Amino acid sequence: MKLLMSTQNPKILEQGFEWIEAIKDFSFNWSVKTLQDSLGGSQFILYFCNQTDEQALGYILISPFLEHWEFLSLATHPNYLKQGIMTELVSHALQMAKRESIKAVFLEVHEQNGPALDFYKKNGFVINRTRFKYYLDGANALEMKTQI
Ligand SMILES: CC(C)(COP(=O)(O)OP(=O)(O)OC[C@H]1O[C@@H](n2cnc3c(N)ncnc32)[C@H](O)[C@@H]1OP(=O)(O)O)[C@@H](O)C(=O)NCCC(=O)NCCS
Repeated sequence: MKLLMSTQNPKILEQGFEWIEAIKDFSFNWSVKTLQDSLGGSQFILYFCNQTDEQALGYILISPFLEHWEFLSLATHPNYLKQGIMTELVSHALQMAKRESIKAVFLEVHEQNGPALDFYKKNGFVINRTRFKYYLDGANALEMKTQI
């Protein structure tokens, strides 16, 4: 696997990220287009690629804001779940944040997204506050945070 990072170029998402469209469910509604629209400013994407066919296996879209980062979106390819890919990506991201003297990382998660909640808790995130009726389906978002 190759770890890649892109800061400026939305075109990197044109190949190898199509599987994102297939994950759509009540708690995840990102598309290649919305990811592309998010790149190009200060936001950047950290992702693992397959050595051979440049297929992205997992990514984190990160938004830096002063001394904090926000994980805006993250996902692992549906064929590669529960193989440690996101654990490794998050670990890389947190090491990078530490090098840049970032104090904390925040994210929001749908309160019924059990796998993501389990994942975040296992990786050191704690619930910081609830954003009531945050999602279109009326569900709450849990804002989670980890100190660096
Ligand atoms: C959440 C997600 C990113 C985890 O990625 P992953 O690469 O499978 O995670 P890892 O293999 O690194 O970590 C596994 C850990 O995550 C949690 N986890 C992952 N899938 C889980 C599931 N289906 N049920 C419960 N816990 C789960 C567990 O804590 C697990 O540890 P365990 O294997 O010891 O039980 C992945 O499920 C995903 O892409 N979901 C769809 C997109 C999404 O919901 N993104 C988050 C939006 S806020």
